[in-house]
Amino acid sequence: MNIPFSEVSKRIYRSEIRELLKWSRKEGVISFGGGLPDPSLFPIQDIIDITRDVLEKKGYLALQYGPTQGEPEMLEALARHMQESGDEASPDQICITSSSQQGLDLLSLLFIDAGAPVIMELPSYLGAVQAFHRCGADTIGIPLDEEGMDLDRLEIVLEEMAGASRKPRFIYTVPEYQNPSGITMSLEKREKLLKISRDRHILIVEDSPYRELSFTGNIFPSLWSLSGGKGVVMLKTFSKMLFPGMRMGWIVAEADLIDTIVMIKQSVDLCTPSFNQLILAEYIKRGKMRETIKKAIACYRPKLEAMLSSLEKHMPSEVRWSRPTGGMFLWLRLPEGIDTKEIFKSAIDHNVAYVIGRPFHCTDTGFNTMRLNYSFPTVEQIRKGIELLATVIRKALHCRGSRAASA
Ligand SMILES: Cc1ncc(COP(=O)(O)O)c(C=O)c1O
Repeated sequence: MNIPFSEVSKRIYRSEIRELLKWSRKEGVISFGGGLPDPSLFPIQDIIDITRDVLEKKGYLALQYGPTQGEPEMLEALARHMQESGDEASPDQICITSSSQQGLDLLSLLFIDAGAPVIMELPSYLGAVQAFHRCGADTIGIPLDEEGMDLDRLEIVLEEMAGASRKPRFIYTVPEYQNPSGITMSLEKREKLLKISRDRHILIVEDSPYRELSFTGNIFPSLWSLSGGKGVVMLKTFSKMLFPGMRMGWIVAEADLIDTIVMIKQSVDLCTPSFNQLILAEYIKRGKMRETIKKAIACYRPKLEAMLSSLEKHMPSEVRWSRPTGGMFLWLRLPEGIDTKEIFKSAIDHNVAYVIGRPFHCTDTGFNTMRLNYSFPTVEQIRKGIELLATVIRKALHCRGSRAASA
């Protein structure tokens, strides 16, 4: 049968990364692939206890449809959590979502028409690249340096666009411990980016899943709070600081924008599961969320240290990497001419897996890059895996050297 597919469906493509990561399930492979939390942190007994309480006391609400914006209890718990984190937001500035990916979906539906320009970091979170492309966005990448987006470049691009009567629908950024690079935007850049956005009336979408996972405790104010809640939409999720299985997150924005987001969300899923919201609201109220975040930091910090020291010890001198102070990822850059997709099979043969960097680029660049996750593997696996990866890279460098000599 010749089924007529929609234009949107034609913009959806198979994830190259997922295809490659199937190989990492081979027995014995140490994977630096997915962005998974360490499951030993999952507070299973607490969730069992709270679930029983919620069902006994509020089962009539938990198993019912709920308000599209979110359960009032949850909105209030989140407003308090944000206040404690220095990010003031009132319940009417919050909409609960089925995790951040739904937040990205709702914002794409709200702001992006086919061909509309959207600015993002280069590299940037793959799920955002996919969500924006699915709506037909013309994504424009601005390179990152060690302190975040290259804002001089951004200004040049915006000036050129203005000359062609074009304006981006928004600027998308992951300011802390960015996925995939691990880079954090400096305070100076945050202030400058906000000035650019104010002067040119461009909305900023601040995607902030890793902010709570700060290993130093020193974190710059969010764009949301620096802007006084004006001209910035913030996406939050429980997936990284707690657990992704409940698919819970929230959007923070000015109240009238939240109103519009709620209207869009109604047509998408009516409401986020009330059951999950009531469990998590209770989890937050009992102070458990803060505890879990503290445990996550204590678990991930030594893993990052193990990865950094192993890279230092084993990697050839031509390889460069980022030095994050939080989050879950680190970014590796190999010399030009080495394609991390081409050497992936060799890595699997050596029992180590990573994520290739190119799909994180909305331009056709980044062939020589890779993302490494340190939250999921154990410290021992990290040490061993980096040693194996260094062997793979050394071999690739050697092959490249031999090819150059015989050319
Ligand atoms: C920057 C960023 N945004 C959003 C997401 C989506 O996460 P979730 O839908 O689980 O909240 C991720 C997941 O890796 C991410 O790294």
